[in-house]
Amino acid sequence: MVTARLPQDEIDRAVDVLREGEVVAFPTETVYGLGADAQNPDAVRKVFELKGRPATHPLIVHLDHPRLLERWALNVPPAAQALAERFWPGPLTLVLRRAPAVDLAITGGQDTVAVRVPNHPVAQQLLRAFGGGIVAPSANRYGRVSPTRADHVREEFGDAVKVVLDGGDCKIGLESTIVSCVDAVPRVLRPGAITLTQLRAVVPEVAEGRSASQPRVPGSDAKHYAPSTPVSIVASGKLEEVVAQLTADHEKVAVLATRPPRLANKFMTWINAGRRAELYARELYVNLRSLDKSGAREILVEEVPGGEAWDAVRDRLRRAASAENVVSVDPDIAALRADFGEDAGSP
Ligand code: TXA
Ligand code: MG
Repeated sequence: MVTARLPQDEIDRAVDVLREGEVVAFPTETVYGLGADAQNPDAVRKVFELKGRPATHPLIVHLDHPRLLERWALNVPPAAQALAERFWPGPLTLVLRRAPAVDLAITGGQDTVAVRVPNHPVAQQLLRAFGGGIVAPSANRYGRVSPTRADHVREEFGDAVKVVLDGGDCKIGLESTIVSCVDAVPRVLRPGAITLTQLRAVVPEVAEGRSASQPRVPGSDAKHYAPSTPVSIVASGKLEEVVAQLTADHEKVAVLATRPPRLANKFMTWINAGRRAELYARELYVNLRSLDKSGAREILVEEVPGGEAWDAVRDRLRRAASAENVVSVDPDIAALRADFGEDAGSP
């Protein structure tokens, strides 16, 4: 895994492109981001256009260091300060009250702003050389699988993104944990590598899940992070049976499992991603991409183990599968679908 720094001239070129109001893709420890100058509204708009993302869905502002926080956020509460101190730089995004100068295009018109200090050396190089905030959603088209390699970004955007800084494979592979610190009790809006237990070790009171007052945000849409091939989640004990049914007419099927297959089947592509949550997460999007290309008519994903270590993976898998394909529909997902419809599935 390459996480080395890049030569300064590559960074300088990316900084020039950002200053010209163009978009630059860069690696973070979670996934690759599609970056633009957070203080240039036209550049911010380009990010929305490129992604095909609705203007009401806010972006995360990336900073090289928490010392810049007060330019972006107002009245940072002690809980947020404690979390920032403990987890930045790292895979944590904090939602805070927006400082007046923050462009409303970034926040989707809301008076809160999401901020993160990533710890990938190339992201740090870029942010430091740029010297300001960089908005960066994951560098994929709206609703699709996030990129964890530079090649994924090029595949998705081709020449539309002038500069793609290549920092190798992302170490974490899933998007940051998002914690809203806007209300009295901080709340996890998106699970990620930093778990609830880790958060609660710093701030004892942290809530989970969406509250009624949370704004509509893209990572919360029921169908998101999705390959083009339909994804279904299947209980481990049923996998072979479902594979046999689907391949009876010689159609191909793809499987993402945590174990090897118990039966051979020449119409099936099977990836054993293992039972270590961290490794599974790191490879999840690469695996979904490769199964998406396998020519299968369906991707079956074995239900992952219970427990907090799998929370972020479970969340992304549920969203990759459309809810009707989840064998036992979770009431939360049903509620999200009722709220959001299924518009996020289209690229
Ligand atoms: O790991 C990550 O967070 C990656 C890397 C590139 O940093 N970025 C990322 O960005 O995942 P994106 O745009 O794909 O997801 C950003 C999420 C949105 O889904 C939304 O839930 C949340 O950030 N968000 C942004 N601003 C918000 C706000 N003001 N209030 C609530 N949520 C917000
Ligand atoms: Mg995204």
